[in-house]
Amino acid sequence: MVAGNWKMHRTASEGAALARECVALAAADPLAKRCEVVICPPFTGLAAVGEALAALKGSGVHLGAQNMHAEVQGAFTGEVSGPMLSAVGCEFVIVGHSERRHVMGETDAMVAAKLRAALRDGLTPIVCIGETLAEREQDKTAEVLVRQLSAAYSGLDAATAAATVVAYEPVWAIGTGKVASPEQARDAHRVARATLDQVVGPSTGSAACILYGGSVNAGNAATLFAEDDIDGALVGGASLEAASFWKIIAAASALNRP
Ligand code: 13P
Repeated sequence: MVAGNWKMHRTASEGAALARECVALAAADPLAKRCEVVICPPFTGLAAVGEALAALKGSGVHLGAQNMHAEVQGAFTGEVSGPMLSAVGCEFVIVGHSERRHVMGETDAMVAAKLRAALRDGLTPIVCIGETLAEREQDKTAEVLVRQLSAAYSGLDAATAAATVVAYEPVWAIGTGKVASPEQARDAHRVARATLDQVVGPSTGSAACILYGGSVNAGNAATLFAEDDIDGALVGGASLEAASFWKIIAAASALNRP
């Protein structure tokens, strides 16, 4: 899977145009069907991008949101619920992105509630985890990943957990150009798999789809994807141009033999 997180970029009409460009590249690439593609515009772009994707039947490009509120409706000014996202065509939703954890103050408990709400509302959650630079330098990477995943997944059964996607995004690699080495990402993904086995049940970790995110681009994607434990990428900056996003998808498709 390759998912593009547009963050706070692109208006509705700019987003629809970018989505059309991505789909045109997908249609021209015979290998494209080997990779599940998701694009996550800001809330204001979801309807227009959803309509653009729906008009391009069988595009194989899925729509995702960047965040949601855990409640279905209510007095939560500025928030958007799962059923609202489904109504504009979303199938996926990112929960617990590090910018929401560290800039907007989301706690492990809030992320756990959003994960359950997404599943309740029929959305596939992309659950983000990752350590800060200070935590890595203090050798706390595994501890942080175990804490974040345990909080999010405890109490879920294996089938429910398998319907989610995990994204390992080290905070120090996001938007910095400092991509994790394939070995660093692999080791973190192995910690995540072992934690899922422990928290949810045996074999959950090996079945899980775990993406890497943080400065993934057209130049480094293939080396990351060559690691068996890396099942794809959550891409920020490089998803804002169809050509660079498509090169990442092509790198994933080339490795994913049918
Ligand atoms: P960049 O690819 O811009 O580093 O962003 C990664 C990210 O945060 C995706 O969710």
